[in-house]
Amino acid sequence: MPQGPVDAVAEAIDLVKVYGEGENQVVALNRVNVRFQRGSFTAIMGPSGSGKSTLMHCLAGLDRITDGRVILGGQELQSMMDAQLTRVRRDRIGFIFQSFNLLPTLTAEQNIVLPLDLAGKKADRAYLAQLADSLGLADRLTHRPSELSGGQQQRVAIARALITRPEVIFADEPTGALDTRTGTRLLEFLQQSSRVHGQSIIMVTHDPKAAAYADRALVLVDGRIVDDIQRPTVDSVNAAMARLEA
Ligand SMILES: Nc1ncnc2c1ncn2[C@@H]1O[C@H](COP(=O)(O)OP(=O)(O)O)[C@@H](O)[C@H]1O
Ligand SMILES: [Mg+2]
Repeated sequence: MPQGPVDAVAEAIDLVKVYGEGENQVVALNRVNVRFQRGSFTAIMGPSGSGKSTLMHCLAGLDRITDGRVILGGQELQSMMDAQLTRVRRDRIGFIFQSFNLLPTLTAEQNIVLPLDLAGKKADRAYLAQLADSLGLADRLTHRPSELSGGQQQRVAIARALITRPEVIFADEPTGALDTRTGTRLLEFLQQSSRVHGQSIIMVTHDPKAAAYADRALVLVDGRIVDDIQRPTVDSVNAAMARLEA
């Protein structure tokens, strides 16, 4: 591990991300410094356009950074060759995107285990059953995406991101399209994944109730971290959001 007492699974140092050029430049991240402790569950909050998705993409090596450094699993992202980065992403990272790209000709189960198939590995049947159960998909595994509702398709995409038991799970508003009951089950599942299995979770959310499942909540505004709340509660998160409007 690079420095300090914290076992960091991901770290950004003076991270800057600028989109576009000249007059169209947008500074999406403006010198972000943050460390994510291994095994912890962090929520990222902030207004729309504040840089939440950009931060996740930069941390996961899905987007090129403009300046600063990103360290993932003890390794400097910029120093990794493309093949190495692809391997790190495949073997150690799960990404739950806002959009889900399921393969239409595969069943739900085949979509879920696809990352394992691609890596030439076998699915752990017990874990697959547990995932399907937690996500309310147990009786939908043989259906194709066209036979599933939008929310069910999203849950298949979530299961697909988790099936490899990645060290780090990045989730961009994973409960956004889910009903309350399914959303709660997913949050409980993510919390258990960090507490019981030591997986690290970094989750963007707009919902203070969702953030309260995390160990820590960061608040981004205009590409900067303006708040860092330990053991967030609905009240402490609401208070932080109210401070933004003051
Ligand atoms: N691919 C892109 N090209 C240009 N600007 C972008 C791109 N992606 C994001 N942005 C801009 O960067 C800023 C941060 O975006 P984003 O990280 O998506 O915010 P959030 O996820 O918090 O809503 C916004 O001003 C957005 O318009
Ligand atoms: Mg976003």
